[in-house]
Amino acid sequence: MNLRTRLFSISMAIAAVMTAVMVADRVQTHRAALIDKTQSRSADLADLASEAAVYALRSGRTERLAELLSPFAEMRQVVYIKVLDRSGRPVHRSGAIGIDIDARDTDASVTGVEDGIYDVTRRLIKDDEDWGTLRLGISTESIAESVGTALRRGLLIGLSFLALLAALLWRISALGGRDMAMLVEAAGGIKSRTLPPLPKVDSESEVGRLSSAFSELHSGLKDERARRKELEDNRKDFFAMAVHDLKQPLTVLKAVNEMVLESAQSGPDGDKRDLGRISELSGESIERLSDMVEDLLNISRLDSPDIPLDKRRIGLSSFLRGCSRDFSAAAERAGRKWVFSDESGEGAWIYGDEKLLKRLVGNLVMNAVQYTPEGAAIHLGARLAEEGHVEIYVRDEGVGIPEELREAIFEKYRTFSDSNRNVGLGLAFCKMAAERHSGRIKVSSETGKGTEIAVSLPVSGQKESGA
Ligand SMILES: Nc1ncnc2c1ncn2[C@@H]1O[C@H](COP(=O)(O)OP(=O)(O)OP(=O)(O)O)[C@@H](O)[C@H]1O
Ligand SMILES: [Mg+2]
Repeated sequence: MNLRTRLFSISMAIAAVMTAVMVADRVQTHRAALIDKTQSRSADLADLASEAAVYALRSGRTERLAELLSPFAEMRQVVYIKVLDRSGRPVHRSGAIGIDIDARDTDASVTGVEDGIYDVTRRLIKDDEDWGTLRLGISTESIAESVGTALRRGLLIGLSFLALLAALLWRISALGGRDMAMLVEAAGGIKSRTLPPLPKVDSESEVGRLSSAFSELHSGLKDERARRKELEDNRKDFFAMAVHDLKQPLTVLKAVNEMVLESAQSGPDGDKRDLGRISELSGESIERLSDMVEDLLNISRLDSPDIPLDKRRIGLSSFLRGCSRDFSAAAERAGRKWVFSDESGEGAWIYGDEKLLKRLVGNLVMNAVQYTPEGAAIHLGARLAEEGHVEIYVRDEGVGIPEELREAIFEKYRTFSDSNRNVGLGLAFCKMAAERHSGRIKVSSETGKGTEIAVSLPVSGQKESGA
């Protein structure tokens, strides 16, 4: 239900209740007035009829009662008249057919009457002498009829008023609602390139202020979109350039290495050994460079969720041992102590892309080496974490990461390093890789003391055989 319909329904409900209360009040007042009127008219009638009855009884001519009381008996509202003499003997009885006059009881007032006849009893006392009793039945049906008519009229007027009000309110709400409908439309289209038209109203009104807030929001979004596009284009350009630039020297290096190898095979023994060693070393570097190119390509793979990863079941212990073997040498060569501890329990499996996960650990180790002074220790390990997860961690005794940077370090191209060799992709890659493995990465650090970055991954559930 839209705002206009809701406001309209609420107003109409209030108006309907108020109209019903007013009609009921009017009818009640009308009924009370009718009862009063009937009460006093009945008293007047009873007085007049009593006079006539006393006259007949005093003169001892009870046979004249019928004649004297006939004007009353003929009245429409008089249902019956009965006269008793002082000994209680009925001396006159007249009334409408079907009325059991003798069985009637006296009513206290018109208000309590239920059968439509108000029964009045009068003692006939004249000059302190009791002449008997007069009983009179007055019809109250006209009250019910009149109340019914008043109720019907009240309802008719009330309903006409409500219908008029409804038409008026609907028209008024249509005027205000049109602006609101335009705002709702604009809100729906706030993300589109061109904002749907906004209502032209007084800029100080609520609708006017909302309207200008919408325009500002729309142009803000447009600017933000343009800024993001520019960033994305820059990133793509950078990425393409980096891969391109890396590939060229790689190809050259590969060719040179092959040439060196050929000369080593054809030259004297001493040269063979030296050249063989040179070729081996440059071969390792080429391998590492190739890995880096692959990393860059991996980042773009992780960026698009549609590209599947090469996931398999991996024995955690052997995976960690492999990482330790591969990365300890570099850390030790750089003068850091290497500590390896696997507390993940025997035979845990994880499910993932082994190359990517290894690269993830490698990045954490590379950071630990870079942001740790010589002689400090670097720990690689794993432990059981919350239900069904293991945590692989790399801990160092380095400079630490200030609290305010602990989120930013995971953003792409955010580096806080002074070295111009850093591009700020390492941890962004780690986070993306962890997330593509339904894992999480968390950092705990103390400035000046060290950092631990841990990746929690779901355990695959089956035992590692022979590991
Ligand atoms: N172990 C650590 N100790 C202290 N600071 C760290 C550590 N690891 C990362 N950082 C901080 O986090 C930032 C982001 O790290 P990240 O690996 O993403 O990028 P980078 O090291 O600057 O560049 P690169 O992409 O070449 O690795 C770093 O610049 C550094 O300030
Ligand atoms: Mg790094």
